[in-house]
This record gives sequence, structure tokens and C-alpha cells, in this order.
Amino acid sequence: MTQTRNNNTVLVTGANSGVGFEAAAQLAESGWGTVILACRTIEKAEAARAALRDRVGKDVFVTLAIDTSEAKAAQAAADELIARGTIVDGLVLNAGASSSQAHYNEDGVEITWASTLVGHHVLTMRLWEAGLLGPHARIIIAGSEGARGTLPGMTLHDVAGLAQARFGGDKTAAIVALAKTEAQDGFANMHEYVTAKLVVAWWAGALGRRLPQGMTANAVSPGSAPGSNFARGAGFSMKVMMAFMKVLGPMMGMAGSLEAAARRYVDALAFDDDENGQFYATAHPKKLVGPMGRQTGFKHFGDVSLQEAAFEAVVRMTDAPAPSVKLAAQ
Ligand SMILES: NC(=O)c1ccc[n+]([C@@H]2O[C@H](COP(=O)([O-])OP(=O)(O)OC[C@H]3O[C@@H](n4cnc5c(N)ncnc54)[C@H](OP(=O)(O)O)[C@@H]3O)[C@@H](O)[C@H]2O)c1
Repeated sequence: MTQTRNNNTVLVTGANSGVGFEAAAQLAESGWGTVILACRTIEKAEAARAALRDRVGKDVFVTLAIDTSEAKAAQAAADELIARGTIVDGLVLNAGASSSQAHYNEDGVEITWASTLVGHHVLTMRLWEAGLLGPHARIIIAGSEGARGTLPGMTLHDVAGLAQARFGGDKTAAIVALAKTEAQDGFANMHEYVTAKLVVAWWAGALGRRLPQGMTANAVSPGSAPGSNFARGAGFSMKVMMAFMKVLGPMMGMAGSLEAAARRYVDALAFDDDENGQFYATAHPKKLVGPMGRQTGFKHFGDVSLQEAAFEAVVRMTDAPAPSVKLAAQ
């Protein structure tokens, strides 16, 4: 069971838009003492702060700049928090982007992958290393319903098969190659997006194993929420899907509100210690909204060798190993 928790400070990446903005509001409304709005630029964070202050009616917001696709920018954001001495009790690693064409970060990692994995990993590792994760820290990272591999047009890369066929069985090498778009023929936006989110779920599984007792990490899909701005940079097929979902989704039980999407983060931050290293998405295996549940029916999420490969792949992409290896052994 969870020990006494200190819901003082929560950090939300991508807090200027969509689910992240709504989550920041709900977290302030639900009593978190400080909500750090971690956005791509300080100007975006300040604009979000002003809007959130108006909405919530109190100013519990502070701002931070982070480009979650660049390891160096995430390191700078972590340094800033270290200089401030901020203990973080909740990390909502929500930022993520999808683009119709491949773009790359400074280290050659494609942005769909980098925006959700690279900066989030560096930030988490550096805060942990600096002793700035609270003893009962709750880390949640945005997953996607698509990572279940059941959505038409959103098939997953077969990481294990690719590793076997092209990398002598090395799953880490296969994931790094996918993230750099070196292992696939062409760039298919939806394909990359859902596979990156699968790697997110594996990363959370491996991180959960490494964290000291009391802290937890989980991947949480906010569910389908077409009211966000996610489609703006997305490819044609995702744009069409989001538009379709916006109009018909609610009637078909396939799309929900930003309020419900953000509520999943708020609820996941309150999980007990035994909810750790898991992937949470819509409980109903064929729906994209509704009550959230642990994804036990999809065995690929719980594959330890793939979780470990994913974690190691992100370490390789960022040069930010987990301090946990030492801590867990103590
Ligand atoms: N909406 C859905 O149906 C849905 C479903 C499943 C999962 N998700 C996930 O939920 C999360 C939030 O998405 P959303 O739907 O709320 O979309 P959104 O409105 O587009 O918000 C995405 C946020 O992430 C930020 N971001 C993206 N790349 C970044 C980077 N490199 N550095 C810093 N910030 C970055 C964006 O900042 P800028 O404004 O500066 O671009 C924005 O604040 C994403 O991880 C997404 O994959 C969404």
C-alpha cells in the first residue's frame, strides 16, 4: 500500500495545449500545490500560465522551457530544476508530436519518437540522479490506444521479428534503428507513432522495475480526444481519422472529451505503489474511451526482454543511463 504521499509539485510537459493544458488545470483544481508548466518555449509556458490562472482562479503555476525531442534541451531543463531545488512528486510526461514527414533531432532520432521518449527520459533520469524525485514520486508517460496494435491502419512494427531478421536478435539495435528510421522502408506516420508509443509502454515497464520502492512509473493512454491540437502536424491519414473521430467518434463511443482524457492522468497520479510498470488504456479492448484499465490482455506489453531492450535503446539515444542500477542493488 502507498505510504503518506506529498502532492506538492507536479510537472506536466506539453502543458500549453490539449490534454496537457487540461491536465494542468485539473491538477491545480484537485489540490496540487505547484504545477510546473513545461513547454517548448518559455513564452508558450507563460501564455499557458496566464490562461490557466484565469481558468482556475489561483496561481499555483510555474514555468519551464523544455524541448522534449532534444536530449540537450531536456538536460538544460533538468539543470534549471536542480538549480531551483524543486522536488517533483508527480511527472506527467505528456508531450508528443506526430508529423506527416520524418524530421530528426540533433542525434538523428526521428521527432515522432524523440518528442515522446528522448527528453522525457533525460529529464526523469536527471531529476532522479539529483535526488529531486519525491520518495513517492508518480511518473506517468503518455501512451496511446494504438500501441495495442488493434486499430486499422495503425499497425505496429514487429520489433522482435525485425531484430531476428536484421540485427542478429538484438532488440535494442532494432528499436534504435526504427527510431532513426534506418530499419523501415519509407516513413509511415501512423506506423511510427503507434510503435513509438509501444516503446513508451515498454520503457515505463523497465523504469518501474528500476525505481526505488515507493516510486512508480506507468504509461497512460489518455484515450481518443480529437479536441486537442494533435492533428496539426500529423499526416493526412491521421488528420482524416481525427476529423472523423471528432464528428462521429462520440456517437460510436470512440472519442471523448479533453476533460476525460486529462482525468486519466490525474487518476493515474493517485495510483498505489503496486500499480507500477504497467500500461493503462481503455479497459474495453475494442474501445478508445471509457473507464481506464491495466492492459493485461495484450501480452506484448509485459514482455520483459522487449521492455529492457526499449529502455536500453532510449539510453543509447540519449546517453542518460538510469541511476537506478546502483540504487536498486543497494
Ligand atoms: N488526443 C488524442 O486523441 C491522443 C490519444 C492518445 C494519445 N495522445 C497523446 O497525448 C499527448 C498530448 O497530445 P494532445 O492530444 O494533447 O496533442 P496537442 O494538443 O498537440 O499537445 C501536444 C503537446 O506536446 C507538446 N510537444 C510536442 N512536441 C514537443 C517537443 N519537442 N517539445 C516540447 N513540447 C512538445 C506540444 O507543444 P507545442 O504546442 O509547442 O507543439 C503540445 O503542448 C501526446 O503524447 C499524444 O501522443 C493523444
